[in-house]
Amino acid sequence: MKSNGKLKQRFTFSDPERVEQIFSQYSDKKSATLPLLHLAQSQEGYISNSVIENIADLVDCHSAVVMDCVSFYTMLYTKPQGRHIIQVCQTLSCSLNGADALVDHVTDKYEIKPGETMANDRFTLMKVECLGSCGTAPVVQINKEYHEGLSTQKFDKLLESFE
Ligand code: FES
Repeated sequence: MKSNGKLKQRFTFSDPERVEQIFSQYSDKKSATLPLLHLAQSQEGYISNSVIENIADLVDCHSAVVMDCVSFYTMLYTKPQGRHIIQVCQTLSCSLNGADALVDHVTDKYEIKPGETMANDRFTLMKVECLGSCGTAPVVQINKEYHEGLSTQKFDKLLESFE
């Protein structure tokens, strides 16, 4: 590869065997796009342009197609996130049961608005669509776990348990 003298770090998967395993599950390379994006995010923490270019090469398509996929799924992040990702459901049932107060609590206490990350990377706050547990509203997902039927007090205690 020619270069203009500057070394450009390009993303590569750290576990090529896992990549092969993913490809072996699909007859069409492009179908591996989403699982590869998840794998890349678990490695890098987010989906950079370099990840998009790498995956586009691997699945033989234009990087815009991979970018479309990234922008469709809210669980794929295009910028670095905090150590803990707080996702507050904002859909009807949660909204009627106090979700906005939970968002306001995080904003007041940690000085971050939805879409922002604390300067020390402790929390990223997000408002998301229905988490599929409407009967136990309001629902918040922190990292991979659901926390249901939260009052502001319970939520505050929960947040304190994350470093
Ligand atoms: S409305 Fe919040 S989980 Fe469905």
